[in-house]
Amino acid sequence: MWSTQVAIIGAGPSGLLLSQLLQRSGIASIVLERQSRTHVEARIRAGLLEWTSVELLLEAGVGERMIREGLVHDGFEVAWADTHHRIDLKGLAGRSMLVYGQSEIERDLAEARAAEPGAVVWEACDVALSDWDAPRPRVTYTHRSVREEIRCDFIAGCDGFHGVSRASVPPDRLTAYERVYPFGWLGVLADVPPLSDELVYANHERGFALCSMRSRGRSRYYVQCPLEDTVEQWTDERFWSELRARLPRHYAARLVTGPSLEKSIAPLRSFVTEPMRFGQLFLVGDAAHIVPPTGAKGLNLAVADVRVLWRGLVEFYGSRSTQLLDEYSARALQRVWKATRFSWWFTTLMHRFSEDRFAHRLQLAELDYLAQSSAAACSLAENYVGLGFEPGRCQE
Ligand code: FAD
Ligand code: DHB
Repeated sequence: MWSTQVAIIGAGPSGLLLSQLLQRSGIASIVLERQSRTHVEARIRAGLLEWTSVELLLEAGVGERMIREGLVHDGFEVAWADTHHRIDLKGLAGRSMLVYGQSEIERDLAEARAAEPGAVVWEACDVALSDWDAPRPRVTYTHRSVREEIRCDFIAGCDGFHGVSRASVPPDRLTAYERVYPFGWLGVLADVPPLSDELVYANHERGFALCSMRSRGRSRYYVQCPLEDTVEQWTDERFWSELRARLPRHYAARLVTGPSLEKSIAPLRSFVTEPMRFGQLFLVGDAAHIVPPTGAKGLNLAVADVRVLWRGLVEFYGSRSTQLLDEYSARALQRVWKATRFSWWFTTLMHRFSEDRFAHRLQLAELDYLAQSSAAACSLAENYVGLGFEPGRCQE
C-alpha cells in the first residue's frame, strides 16, 4: 500500500500541472494515468493559451520552451460573406493569447514530472475510488498486473469527460447541465505555412471554418461537418477544397495545402457538473465541464481550476485552514459558467445550425454589428482573452 497527500487521477494537462505545482509547494502527490506517456503526448487537441494560463505554467517552472517557441497573438480575424474584420485583443482587452500546442504542454509537464521517480504511474488500469467522503480516501488500480492501493488526504479527479472520478459520485449528489450540438469539427494538422499571421474564424453558408496554427510552419485547420461523418470520407483533397470554399476570396487565394499529418472529428458539447467537490474528491477540468472548442476555452478552464485547487491545498497544508478548499467549487463554477456562455455564444454565431435562413440573416447582422460597434467587439475580446480575476479594460 502506498501513501500520499493528493492522489491525482489522469495525466492530461490538469493532472500533470497540479502535480507539478504541488511538488514545488512541498506537497506530495501520485498521478495515475490509464494511457502510456507516448499516447498522451501524441494527442492533438487545443492550441491557444490565455495569458493567465501562460503565467501559471511559468510559475510551475515549465514555461521556458513555451516562451521560446510560442507565438504571441494580439488579435484574430472574423470572416463572413466575403469580408473580414480584425478583433484587436490587445487594444480592446489589454491582453494577448499564446499559440502553443497542448501536446507540447503535455511534453513539458511530463518531462518535469519524470524528474521525480514514481510521481506518475502510466498505464494504470481499472482505477477505482473509495471512501472519498471520509478523511482518508483510497484509490486502487492495477499496474503491471499487480493490484495496488494508495491512501491519501485528497483525490483530484483530473481524468477528463469519460473518466472514473465523476462516475464514482452517485447521480443524486450532482446536477449536470448539457447541450449537444448537431455537428462536429473535422480537424487537420499539416506542415504548411499558416493562412495568415493571425487566426481566422469564418462563418459561411456551407458551415464554419477555422484557420489556426501550431508554429510558423505547421497549420491546424477545422471545418464544421455532419456528426455522422467519418474521417475516411474526408480525403485531403476534399478537406482542402471545402476549407477554401468557406473562406473569403482574399484568403482562399493564398491557402497553401499539403498532406495531412493528422485528421480527426470531434463532437461539440457544453456540459457542466455542479458541485465540483464531493467530500475529499475534487473534480478538475474536463472531468467537471466541457465546452465546444470555438474560442478555445477548454484547456484554459482546466488550468484555471488547477490554480484554485492548488492554492486551496497550499493553504490547507500550510495552516490547516479549509477556507479556500471550501470555496473551490463556487469559485471555479463562476468562471466555468461565463466560459460556457461565451463558447455557446461564439459557436451559435459562427456555425450553420439548419436551413433556417432567418437564423443565418441574424448571424450576419450580428457579425456586421461586431465590425461596427467597439462595445460589441470589446465584449468578444474580453471573453476571448479570458475573464480573469480583475475586470477587463472594457469595463473601465
Ligand atoms: P484531459 O486532457 O481529457 O485529460 C484526462 C486524462 O485522464 C487523460 O490523459 C486520460 O487518458 C486520463 N483518464 C481518463 N480516464 C481515466 C481513468 N479511468 N483512469 C486513469 N486515467 C484516466 N480545447 C480547446 O480549448 N481547443 C481545442 O481545439 C480543443 N480540441 C479538442 C479536441 C479533442 C479531440 C478533445 C477530446 C478535446 C479538445 N479540447 C480543446 C479540449 C481540451 O483539450 C481539454 O479541455 C483539456 O484537454 C482538458 O484537460 P484535462 O486535463 O482536464 O482533461
Ligand atoms: C484552436 C482551437 C480553437 O477552438 C480555437 O478557438 C482556436 C484555436 C486550435 O486548435 O488551434
